[in-house]
Amino acid sequence: MFDLSGKNALVTGAASGIGEATARTLAAAGAKVFVADLDFDRGVAVADDIAQQGLAAEFMELDVSDKSSCAAAEAYIRRTSGWLDILVNNAGIGHVGTILETTSEDLDRLFAVNVRGMFDLTKAFIGGMIERNHGVIVNVASIGGIIAIRDRLAYCTTKFAVVGFTKCIALDHATQGIRANSICPGRVETEFVKKRIAEYPDPKKAYEEMAATQAIGRMGTPEEIAACALYLASDEAAFVTGTALEIDGGFSVGK
Ligand SMILES: NC(=O)c1ccc[n+]([C@@H]2O[C@H](COP(=O)([O-])OP(=O)(O)OC[C@H]3O[C@@H](n4cnc5c(N)ncnc54)[C@H](O)[C@@H]3O)[C@@H](O)[C@H]2O)c1
Repeated sequence: MFDLSGKNALVTGAASGIGEATARTLAAAGAKVFVADLDFDRGVAVADDIAQQGLAAEFMELDVSDKSSCAAAEAYIRRTSGWLDILVNNAGIGHVGTILETTSEDLDRLFAVNVRGMFDLTKAFIGGMIERNHGVIVNVASIGGIIAIRDRLAYCTTKFAVVGFTKCIALDHATQGIRANSICPGRVETEFVKKRIAEYPDPKKAYEEMAATQAIGRMGTPEEIAACALYLASDEAAFVTGTALEIDGGFSVGK
């Protein structure tokens, strides 16, 4: 089960956190993985480390908020590998604040990466997937795309959009061999969360409070989210499309 041999996968935001764990997990399952990120040094280090384990990985410099960068990624993969089977749109950025602390520039900045970046990269690849009548799209949203999270106005706005975007792709292209699902993680211990915690006046207290918001009393690990991406990317999930899979340690249960 969960064998991705012979498949080509691209993971965005793969230099860190959930994206890195997903790249490692998909490669371990047999996929050739394009480790895509705008962080050159960390991205190269991740791809090299995967390759040193005898697995197939290659770094790709990509800024999802730049439409020409998305088009170049598609052209490169078409030229060098022929096609893409699995697209994991994971790159994302956050912001802390209610509408009172959020500027329209903040909203534009988050939207450019979290939503428009996902749109442009998916648009670049979906034509080729439809041509082959085969393609899997996994979009990393957030539990903040299902329920509101206090002080995360801009972030939740973009993540609700990700869930909606994913459902539309799933519905429009279900009979063309395309499956699209989103993953909605609760709090996962990554650089992303560390940065958000650092924005609080008392980071230690903020950490403890964030861990406690999961019903199981701890944050998730990137590997726990990567396992979900592997399932959705695999043929074992052939009947799964349009879902928003909550993997949140019970963050939302009872809310
Ligand atoms: N960590 C959590 O608690 C959590 C919870 C729910 C959802 N998420 C989502 O998971 C995804 C990954 O989060 P993470 O915690 O692993 O973050 P992270 O900050 O550890 O990693 C994000 C990666 O994305 C890259 N990136 C940022 N902007 C980019 C761009 N324009 N183009 C290409 N790459 C870019 C960064 O360089 C970084 O390597 C995000 O979409 C985030 O919203 C995270």
